[in-house]
Amino acid sequence: MTIPVRGDAIADPAPAPAAMEELETVYERLRPLIPRAEWEAHAPVIAAIRAQKRQRRAVILAHNYQAPEIFHAVADLTGDSLALAREAAAVDADVIVMCGVHFMAETAKLLNPSRLVLIPDPEAGCSLASAITPGEIERLRRQYPGAPVVTYVNTSAAVKAASDICCTSANAVEVVESLDADRVIFLPDEYLGRHVASRTDKELILWQGHCEVHEQFSAADLVRCRREHPGVFILAHPECPPDVLAEADFTGSTADMIREVDRRRPERVFLATEISMSRNLAAEFPGIRFIHPCHACPHMQRITLPGILECLRSLRHPVEVDPLVAARARLAVERMLDIRVREKR
Ligand code: 13P
Ligand code: SF4
Repeated sequence: MTIPVRGDAIADPAPAPAAMEELETVYERLRPLIPRAEWEAHAPVIAAIRAQKRQRRAVILAHNYQAPEIFHAVADLTGDSLALAREAAAVDADVIVMCGVHFMAETAKLLNPSRLVLIPDPEAGCSLASAITPGEIERLRRQYPGAPVVTYVNTSAAVKAASDICCTSANAVEVVESLDADRVIFLPDEYLGRHVASRTDKELILWQGHCEVHEQFSAADLVRCRREHPGVFILAHPECPPDVLAEADFTGSTADMIREVDRRRPERVFLATEISMSRNLAAEFPGIRFIHPCHACPHMQRITLPGILECLRSLRHPVEVDPLVAARARLAVERMLDIRVREKR
């Protein structure tokens, strides 16, 4: 494998007629979501991204919250934070482009350090990742001596390095349960922490970090949704406040929610989570009526088709992690990946 270097730009080849025809098949799925005129603007950029991917030997990983034209038309692998971390560790390509937020790209770099990991917009942050610092973790360790520190993957590499083990919303209960301690420091998402606390006998020390998107949902929104859409099946992400989770029919990570929709095939669905995921599922399950939420993640939305193309053309925005920080952060992520999550299907 040769790691391509920055500045060694590759011009876009002219899209072959067959490639444009292939895109029409993709558009069939997206037609209910994307007006034809908008698609006409996307199509040449999508074709150029697909061609650049082949030339660069690049793989595009996309989180479930990416816009439909990214999720369905250019991504090679999609999933929740846990799946993306697992995929990133196993990717056999020269370049990994992370269509998601910065902590996801950092995790990919930690797990596959010999690859060039790019993020189309390095400003794509996360309100949870900016809610805690390594210094604050050290203070908590002094306050609660002996209590292991579990950090949500929605954190910087420096925070991961200061913790004992990471978790995602898909495995948080299993991670906490795996620890040989009665008291656990769980950071930084208070609501995910409260959700985990309701499923374990361990005492959890929580932090007051919140997701700026999920904290906007209220139980009243869900009650209104049930009134207006009788029979609707409501799924919620555990970053939502506790009263929202109490009102929902199912709680789980983004991938857990997708599996549940696939398994149950309800007539009507409301997802208390980021809007793009609801749109992506509407394209995947045309027989289900999705009542779309209205909350968008401003960080996820920084990733756009032109940004992805530019990133591949000029190998812009490589993600780097200080080697000393990376070694400790990797350990925390790998400990998490070693934990077997019970089969949820
Ligand atoms: P998942 O791991 O469930 O995909 O969640 C990531 C995230 O950022 C949710 O807001
Ligand atoms: Fe962070 Fe919330 Fe955006 Fe997820 S939805 S990336 S937790 S701000």
